[in-house]
Amino acid sequence: MKTFNFSAGPAALPLPVRARLAEALSPDPRGMPSVAEISHRGARFSEIAEELMARLRVLTGVGAEHEILLLHGGANLQFAWLPMNLAAGRRSGYVLTGHWGEKALAEARRVGAAEAVASSAAGGFVDLPELGHLPVDCAYLHYTGNETIHGVQYPTPPAVGVPLAADLSSEFLSRPYPYDALGFAYAGAQKNLGIAGLTVVLIRRDLLERIPDGLPRYLDYRTWVSSGSMYNTPVTLAWYVALEVLRWIEGSGGLDWLGRRNAARASRLYAFLDGSDFWSNPVAEHCRSVMNVPFFPADQGLTMTAVAAAEQAGLIGLKGHRALGGLRASLYNALDDDAVEILIDFLKEFERSRS
Ligand SMILES: Cc1ncc(COP(=O)(O)O)c(C=O)c1O
Repeated sequence: MKTFNFSAGPAALPLPVRARLAEALSPDPRGMPSVAEISHRGARFSEIAEELMARLRVLTGVGAEHEILLLHGGANLQFAWLPMNLAAGRRSGYVLTGHWGEKALAEARRVGAAEAVASSAAGGFVDLPELGHLPVDCAYLHYTGNETIHGVQYPTPPAVGVPLAADLSSEFLSRPYPYDALGFAYAGAQKNLGIAGLTVVLIRRDLLERIPDGLPRYLDYRTWVSSGSMYNTPVTLAWYVALEVLRWIEGSGGLDWLGRRNAARASRLYAFLDGSDFWSNPVAEHCRSVMNVPFFPADQGLTMTAVAAAEQAGLIGLKGHRALGGLRASLYNALDDDAVEILIDFLKEFERSRS
């Protein structure tokens, strides 16, 4: 039986990337070290690092006015690192469209003056809120491009007159995106860019001037700019996998192709859910996530039965996040093309067997 991995992250890797990784780590007959066993400062790893940076620039389309940093610590560290660097002595604004935006704001409040300028919490995070007034001297407006748990996505970045800071964790490189219009963006690699451990940050160069002196060196973005993201030992294997994923993206048709393919298969799933009397998704149509689709059975008591039956049928990773319950299908780039149709067949059959 074929298995399909709908995990929200760490998520499925493209099969050719898994094959390359297995090959890269397999014992060498002459005892040569693998990519995970060499110095990050040597020539062999430097080639990997250079190609990775170059490919990220091409795919995101950012030019010399942005720095690309390859960091550790995941999006959670950026929740605090960003305000510490870019909002010192100023206020920052946050739009809340789900769980992750709330966490980002809570952390920003621990290090400075941050406020929610809009929130769709009252309605249960099923729509995008109207933007309120930004604070005077607003350092940036933070938004979550795609709320992974609630399944709410901005079709395009919000339009405001201050720098945008975007948590793009669960939609990075899933479609063409105006990365060059952002002041700041971050994403962990474990969804569309390989394995956990690597965090990509894009930062507009002029914003580096706002960073206050006296921060711990590790937590000053300028340290990472000047060291080429090698202030300390990088997560070398995650960099290697990211490079293989970028090669795979290019070989598969690039972001235009991924964007079209991803949108088509998400709409197929939403159309099924909307037409079903048993399954449903509550999110407003114009901001439904293309990457993460939460859905619920009419009888919520059947959630765990459905998750277990799905696993039996080879559909894994469908349990919803504990903050929301229900089920969730994550449709990241590497998910097999047949997966959505097979999921729909399973959901139809589950519905039929319960009615
Ligand atoms: C939108 C979003 N932000 C932040 C995070 C947290 O990421 P990390 O585990 O890399 O800190 C996640 C993880 O799923 C996410 O989906």
